Amino acid sequence: MCGIVGYLGSQSAVPILLNCLKQLEYRGYDSAGIAILNGDDLTVAKSAGKISFLENMLQEEGIPESHVGIGHTRWATQVRPTDLNSPPDTGCTSNFAVVHNGIIENYQAIKEWLQKEGHSFVSETDAEVLPHLVEHFYQGDLETAVLEVINRVEGSYAMMVFTHKEPRKLVAARKDSPLIMGLGEKEYFLASDIPAILSYTRQAYILEDGEVAVLKPEGAYILDWKGLPVDKAIFKVEWDAAAAEKAGYDHFMRKEMHEQPRALKDTLSSRISLDNRYVQLNEVSLTPQQIKDFTRIKMVGCGTAYHAGIVGKYLIEKLVRIPVEVDIASEFRYRDPLLDERTLVVVISQSGETADTLAALREAKRKGARVLAVTNVVGSSISREADDVLYTWAGPEIAVASTKAYTTQLICMYLLGLYLAQVRRTLSEEEIATMITHLRQLPQQVQMILNREQQIKKLAETYTRSELENIFFIGRGLDYAVAMEGSLKLKEITYIHAEAYAAGELKHGTFALIEEGFPIIALGTQESLLEKTVNNVKELKARGATVIGLALKGDTQLQECVDEIIYLPRTHNDLTSILAVIPLQLLAYYAAVTRGTNVDQPRNLTKAVTVE
Ligand code: G6P
Repeated sequence: MCGIVGYLGSQSAVPILLNCLKQLEYRGYDSAGIAILNGDDLTVAKSAGKISFLENMLQEEGIPESHVGIGHTRWATQVRPTDLNSPPDTGCTSNFAVVHNGIIENYQAIKEWLQKEGHSFVSETDAEVLPHLVEHFYQGDLETAVLEVINRVEGSYAMMVFTHKEPRKLVAARKDSPLIMGLGEKEYFLASDIPAILSYTRQAYILEDGEVAVLKPEGAYILDWKGLPVDKAIFKVEWDAAAAEKAGYDHFMRKEMHEQPRALKDTLSSRISLDNRYVQLNEVSLTPQQIKDFTRIKMVGCGTAYHAGIVGKYLIEKLVRIPVEVDIASEFRYRDPLLDERTLVVVISQSGETADTLAALREAKRKGARVLAVTNVVGSSISREADDVLYTWAGPEIAVASTKAYTTQLICMYLLGLYLAQVRRTLSEEEIATMITHLRQLPQQVQMILNREQQIKKLAETYTRSELENIFFIGRGLDYAVAMEGSLKLKEITYIHAEAYAAGELKHGTFALIEEGFPIIALGTQESLLEKTVNNVKELKARGATVIGLALKGDTQLQECVDEIIYLPRTHNDLTSILAVIPLQLLAYYAAVTRGTNVDQPRNLTKAVTVE
């Protein structure tokens, strides 16, 4: 991650590459680099920090003349943003340069194999295996070597590669990470996102998974993963630059909701063994003994992150049989919490900069607890101060209302729960393998729900018109935790007063508010609790409420007593939260669109609250 670009043509490549990279700056990054052909030499310039850094560096040394090159702004995920870890990567001989977006899941195994073959590595990145692989398979034709490589790597990638051995060629490939080829006048552009190339061309090929693009001055073509030619229609970009940053989506929030399958996959991928039997959290330095010695866990966060912690509590208590408490960071920091060295404090924060969460982390460390951070931003204050970090690989989240950060936080909760259960042996190997099988299916199941967004749009248009003032979300167990996040989403961006209630608690006061037509969203994904939730829904219906139900595919119990039903694909009952929240995100989004509120920047709110 985060943005990659490429150029081949008659103009000077360096200014074009830098300009294209700048168009992607809004996505966030912490290192940047380019590789170009300078005469017969392959020249690389890279550094941690901003593009302006790189630009100054190049200007000081004199910008080399070149007509082919690649560039990358990387938002470090797995490794520290240092000069050595900055892209592009080259092989042992510096004959090949590669930029890569995504995650090579089997890089460790490939790296070990290549090392035995005599390759030496300079960085800690997964991407570095790519130039070495190309180098290994290269026999005079770059596209053949790239085809060999993509048939061996697992994971997600959009990559671009060139070599001074074939100076008039640039090759790119993609799987599960976006890649486009821009078509100019006898010049070609490559980019991970359309905004990068908009000042040069509005015509592009959008590559599909498994496709390889070959660019030469005399023409460009696309191959499939077997090397057979692919006929592609030219995509004409009709949007303006601002819209293009949203990749054609009306709002960042919708774009980010749709990025969830990819984000979930990235967050999961390399943390699961290749045989799908166990969880491996290589980045966490806790020893098995430390894990066994913990007597309790505390989850701390604000807003959406706090809600992820509540899911974590339900799950970890169940899987690991260890007490878990969840705290709002602003409460935790001042309530003199009971902590000791046998307490694991998990601080959750998308930005890694929320002032209250950071203060909670410091309080936990002061009292001798072990702190594990779950965050989306490498190099953030929280990531630097925590003892261990489990990154969510959601990519930059720009909309104030969090979507992909939340679902990737849930993935981290699942991974953490399974990991602790593995070490403390509270689940059998079979139980862990079964959950992993279900985990692996989640990205695709999220995609299935996103594909049905028109149904949710219609519900939003019918039930959340401007006269709607109040709405309740109800559920039991994990459904209650998701109900909280659903209600937060709705209130954040529509300004409708939304509350979440544990379904069994309604009769202790909230019933007094129910009258004819009062809207309720009832979550019923927890099978062991479904009968109870259905009874609560019947009680609400008897008092005149209008109920939209959320149930697993095949349910009839809830469906029979609600006004509308949204179905979710079936998964392991402890993993439903990720699926259940997607329709609620969509509902909030389309309600905001229906009501004409500012979706991405709701009034009075900010993305990262860095002051108390
Ligand atoms: C702000 C944002 C929320 C977010 C919360 C915690 O209030 O508007 O969307 O959930 O901060 O942010 P963090 O970056 O710590 O997850």
